[in-house]
Amino acid sequence: MAKQQGSGSPSYLTPDEMKELIKSRNKNLPLSEKLEEKINLQVSSPTLKNFTPKDIKQYLDGYVISQERAKKDIAVAVAYHYKHIDCLVNNPGTPIKKNNVLMIGPTGVGKTYMLEKISQLIDVPLLVVDCSKLTKSGYIGNSVNDMLIDLFAKTNGDIETAEKSIIYLDEIDKIRTQNSYGQRDIAGQDVQVELLKIIEGAEVPIEVGKKKIMFNTKGVLFIAGGAFPELENIIKKRKNIKKEIGFGKEQTVSKTGELFREITTEDLVNYGLLPEFIGRLPVITALSELKQEDLENILKNSQESILKHYEAELAGYSIKIKFTDEAIREIAKMAYGKGIGARGLTTICENFLMELKYELPSTNIKNVVVTEELFRNPQKYLEDLNQKND
Ligand SMILES: Nc1ncnc2c1ncn2[C@@H]1O[C@H](COP(=O)(O)OP(=O)(O)OP(=O)(O)O)[C@@H](O)[C@H]1O
Ligand SMILES: [Mg+2]
Repeated sequence: MAKQQGSGSPSYLTPDEMKELIKSRNKNLPLSEKLEEKINLQVSSPTLKNFTPKDIKQYLDGYVISQERAKKDIAVAVAYHYKHIDCLVNNPGTPIKKNNVLMIGPTGVGKTYMLEKISQLIDVPLLVVDCSKLTKSGYIGNSVNDMLIDLFAKTNGDIETAEKSIIYLDEIDKIRTQNSYGQRDIAGQDVQVELLKIIEGAEVPIEVGKKKIMFNTKGVLFIAGGAFPELENIIKKRKNIKKEIGFGKEQTVSKTGELFREITTEDLVNYGLLPEFIGRLPVITALSELKQEDLENILKNSQESILKHYEAELAGYSIKIKFTDEAIREIAKMAYGKGIGARGLTTICENFLMELKYELPSTNIKNVVVTEELFRNPQKYLEDLNQKND
């Protein structure tokens, strides 16, 4: 594992170097030799990362469209988390408040994506854990300790790096203390209780082969995320009740994202999270549903837009494919109708492009402009093509 060399103080990246790094990661450009070398010296030690929240947000902007508030919240949480680790390394006794985050937002709007991109930027491992599969230790299923073993394996047994990684607790809304009918869910509650300790930061023994080693979770950043399907109604209900008994006036909140910004601990407890559990996730951020314009924007502007992916694929057969604005609008409209966020874009594009991807490499067509008409009826385009070839 590469370590920082020399015994001097950490050589942080200068603002210009930071800009170069972000630009290169956003645009897939190679780094200058000097910067490459400097980063290599720092790479395995996240404590030496000096990203400001703005750097992280700016980098995310290249990939994650919309979700401005969530990008800021996550950028702040991540940047300061690594500052806290610096403190811990330099002054082991420092009392540290962890910036663990709870992300609330519907499916396919960028929760996991945002974290994947951050973990690539700051070069720390990201472990995504499906909480719906977690069970209390001793029961069949994945236990809470298994996630630490997975992290240890992911870092090839490098405990120092594993102890500074990010764990994304996906589907956190599936471990509830009660179901939607108000009946107790002991299994969900047990898992929450087991998670408390490691989220807070504790020395946990893990078994690796025949060895037992201690895994300290103090430096691990926990980000929990889920769709919380009934939460919107819980918040609305609370707000209305307060209005009736005269505590406040009703506000017309149309967007779910905005409504979620008014979330209280009480709402989350009513949903089925333990107060102690919520207390360990002090940053709560909401992601909004992606509108049709956002989906259009993703296709046009995200660095990893699926259209760029198709352009690159077909370029492998020396075929240039371009999409008109009208076709992009149509794709976004259909994807929006599916109600599965940006995931709808992939489904729609795959369906539409399958035949073209199959046929085009065997023709002598080298330029395809996907118009709205072609998008609506690719079959006709291919038939016309075959007729021309006959
Ligand atoms: N805001 C966004 N900007 C750009 N691309 C996005 C955005 N949201 C989602 N995507 C694309 O859609 C894919 C799926 O999104 P993601 O995995 O982040 O969903 P999620 O919010 O975690 O949903 P779920 O709750 O179902 O896990 C991403 O890999 C990415 O390609
Ligand atoms: Mg996800």
